Amino acid sequence: MSPVSSLLIKVWAVVSVASSLAQAAPSEPRTNNASCRFLPGDAGWPSVSTWSSLNDTVGGRLIAGSPLAHACYGSNANEAICASLQENWATLDPFLADPVNVQSMLFENTSCSPFYGPFSANAAYQNATCSMGNLASYAINITDAASAIAGVNFAREHNIRLSIKNTGHDFLGRNMGKGSLSLWTHYLKNASFFAYSSANYTGPAARIGAGLQVQELYEASAAAGYRVTGGGCPTVGAGGGWVQSGGHGPLSSLYGLGADQTLEFEVVTADGQHLTASPDENADLFWALSGGGPANFALVLSVTMKAHEDGPVAGATLSFTEDDSDKYWAAVEAWQRHLLVLDTIPGFQTMVGMAKGSFSLDYVTLPDGSVDDINAGLAPFYQELASLNISVTNDTRVHDSFWEHYQYFEGSTTWTRNDSVGNRLIPRDAVRNETTLAALTQVYKDILDYPNSYFYIIAYNVTHTVAGNSRGDNAVIEAWRDSLYLNNVIILNDPQATSEELGEYAQELNVWQENMRAVTPDSGAYMNEATYDYEYWKDDYYGETYDKLVEIKHKYDPGYVFWNRPGAGYDAYELKADGHLCKV
Ligand SMILES: Cc1cc2nc3c(=O)[nH]c(=O)nc-3n(C[C@H](O)[C@H](O)[C@H](O)COP(=O)(O)OP(=O)(O)OC[C@H]3O[C@@H](n4cnc5c(N)ncnc54)[C@H](O)[C@@H]3O)c2cc1C
Ligand SMILES: *[C@@H]1O[C@H](CO)[C@@H](O)[C@H](O)[C@H]1NC(C)=O
Ligand SMILES: *[C@@H]1O[C@H](CO)[C@@H](O)[C@H](O)[C@H]1NC(C)=O
Ligand SMILES: *[C@@H]1O[C@H](CO)[C@@H](O)[C@H](O)[C@H]1NC(C)=O
Ligand SMILES: *[C@@H]1O[C@H](CO)[C@@H](O)[C@H](O)[C@H]1NC(C)=O
Ligand SMILES: *[C@@H]1O[C@H](CO)[C@@H](O)[C@H](O)[C@H]1NC(C)=O
Ligand SMILES: *[C@@H]1O[C@H](CO)[C@@H](O)[C@H](O)[C@H]1NC(C)=O
Ligand SMILES: *[C@@H]1O[C@H](CO)[C@@H](O)[C@H](O)[C@H]1NC(C)=O
Ligand SMILES: *[C@@H]1O[C@H](CO)[C@@H](O)[C@H](O)[C@H]1NC(C)=O
Ligand SMILES: *[C@@H]1O[C@H](CO)[C@@H](O)[C@H](O)[C@H]1NC(C)=O
Ligand SMILES: *[C@@H]1O[C@H](CO)[C@@H](O)[C@H](O)[C@H]1NC(C)=O
Ligand SMILES: *[C@@H]1O[C@H](CO)[C@@H](O)[C@H](O)[C@H]1NC(C)=O
Ligand SMILES: *[C@@H]1O[C@H](CO)[C@@H](O)[C@H](O)[C@H]1NC(C)=O
Repeated sequence: MSPVSSLLIKVWAVVSVASSLAQAAPSEPRTNNASCRFLPGDAGWPSVSTWSSLNDTVGGRLIAGSPLAHACYGSNANEAICASLQENWATLDPFLADPVNVQSMLFENTSCSPFYGPFSANAAYQNATCSMGNLASYAINITDAASAIAGVNFAREHNIRLSIKNTGHDFLGRNMGKGSLSLWTHYLKNASFFAYSSANYTGPAARIGAGLQVQELYEASAAAGYRVTGGGCPTVGAGGGWVQSGGHGPLSSLYGLGADQTLEFEVVTADGQHLTASPDENADLFWALSGGGPANFALVLSVTMKAHEDGPVAGATLSFTEDDSDKYWAAVEAWQRHLLVLDTIPGFQTMVGMAKGSFSLDYVTLPDGSVDDINAGLAPFYQELASLNISVTNDTRVHDSFWEHYQYFEGSTTWTRNDSVGNRLIPRDAVRNETTLAALTQVYKDILDYPNSYFYIIAYNVTHTVAGNSRGDNAVIEAWRDSLYLNNVIILNDPQATSEELGEYAQELNVWQENMRAVTPDSGAYMNEATYDYEYWKDDYYGETYDKLVEIKHKYDPGYVFWNRPGAGYDAYELKADGHLCKV
């Protein structure tokens, strides 16, 4: 951890003392309408002593939420701390380690920005104030089932909105909620490896706490001699939002998505029960949790996934820049056609970032493969590049384990939080057909004409053959099985962007999702990297799974203790302009 981020953690400790923010919300209309979750300031909001007795129940683990940049405002405002916050506002660390502050700038909505207020360089913003905005009012630092049960019961009994925060990575703001009690699962980091045996699977398995992050999972798995599926980004929570929405990563072409690897979930349900969900117990809940969306059916304490014997993994990078637009786009089209070949090589996975005139294959992952296998796989593409007179930089090598491969190739990647995303799953048939391939390429050209945009072509073979399951076995949409690649489209924003600008970018991403949909009408999208307010959310994020998911939602959580947009069935409730969440 850098010196700067430890300073930020100290900042958090200072501002959390000023918990009055969580209580006072004088501008809120006072309502006591039980059709709506109570907000601070409402007559029905629990009293300080009621919160205090919750704190006793959870052994003093209740935390009053506070905006990170609170230190930039008020009579105790500190210019040095604020300058450090400004400098690091687009980095992830301070948000990963905080119980209520989350990554999405769109949902933070400049409600407490270090760039506004007294230390703003812009006089027009110096009168801005700091408020809680969409942040949770309180969080419970969850360490066991009992504290999770206490939190769920408190929210239900007191008609308070509940939210769940794990790493805070979510792009759709599903990890927060104005006036909510947040269940913070970050410290559930247990990992154990053991022999599993059930009617469906006999073999090694890993049971991981919901808070275990991808790099921690890979490291622990390697130490035990295994590979377990996780995401590409080292800090995503493997047992949180990742696995519950599908979850893709560098091992996906070998084992399928995260949700294809689940054996059981240990959960707390909306009625406060501590249950196991597996193909043998509460099978419908298990089905929904395996890809049907996070924070909607139950709180997850741990997930058990298949573990696989480790072994050598080959990897490679490949990059080039090309200023001639015709040549660049010819190369991008050639890459898409070439993915149809890579798709047939067992385990071959690629992830390429495209910005105007640049192509950067972050890394190939080819488990149990060799340098020759990778070079042979890429050779036809190299030939096409040579015929376009494009010269490339590459690096190909084999490591002894997946963890070593991952550290080497992921090590040079920097993740920031000043981005918003949308996506589309692109089917093999759309790339095979020259008409649709050209139409897709035109959509991508238009996207790169937008300032500060780029896209990521992430190619997996996650057919049922690879995943080792059958249609309908879990809540992952079939569009994944037919897809050649996932296209993540991204807009970077200035960390000082206004909420209007952030709103415009979000709307632009909806347009891009629609434009890609128009070319691939029968496909879908990956909800974790999609927009929150998309017109075709039911069709594209849930497709054929939607009706069954809503049925399971209503069975396990008829009172909507869990709610997030766009969770299956979320439209039974509406978020009002004043922040109240109300039954429709
Ligand atoms: C930098 C970055 C890189 C990414 N890379 C990848 C990638 O390689 N592959 C991929 O598939 N996705 C990737 N994602 C998307 C990622 O899968 C989602 O953001 C996911 O929601 C993160 O889950 P989390 O638990 O880490 O985050 P959080 O934001 O804490 O939670 C996300 C959602 O899950 C819910 N949730 C969290 N914990 C629990 C729990 N214990 N029980 C019930 N619900 C819970 C939250 O309420 C929220 O709705 C990336 C995201 C970012 C920001
Ligand atoms: C309570 O809220 C619901 C949902 O918004 C609304 O339909 C109803 O009219 C409200 N009732 C009162 C008494 O305000
Ligand atoms: C909960 O109790 C602990 C221990 O007494 C205390 O440190 C903490 O501030 C309390 N939380 C709240 C929100 O009051
Ligand atoms: C951000 O704030 C604006 C203005 O208050 C509001 O209209 C918008 O809905 C908010 N956006 C989010 C994602 O909360
Ligand atoms: C900021 O507040 C001061 C004092 O109330 C006022 O004079 C000034 O016009 C305000 N500035 C802006 C940009 O609103
Ligand atoms: C949360 O709990 C963990 C585990 O007990 C502890 O290490 C950590 O300091 C706690 N964090 C906060 C902010 O209370
Ligand atoms: C985590 O592991 C420790 C030691 O094995 C055990 O005592 C504890 O109960 C586990 N916690 C959870 C939440 O599983
Ligand atoms: C589990 O096995 C049963 C019986 O073979 C099968 O019908 C079912 O699809 C399997 N479930 C999963 C989730 O693999
Ligand atoms: C996907 O992978 C499987 C197993 O390696 C392979 O048989 C198949 O050809 C690949 N492609 C498709 C479209 O199924
Ligand atoms: C590549 O370079 C050669 C030699 O300079 C030239 O003849 C050829 O036309 C170029 N091809 C392309 C596609 O630019
Ligand atoms: C780069 O790719 C070429 C063509 O496949 C291959 O011959 C060469 O060994 C690669 N170089 C490195 C450093 O990986
Ligand atoms: C290619 O796609 C176009 C547009 O969707 C369609 O009209 C055409 O029939 C397709 N061609 C083939 C060979 O499938
Ligand atoms: C954020 O986005 C801007 C584009 O507006 C980019 O220039 C900047 O480098 C990005 N990263 C950070 C850490 O600010």
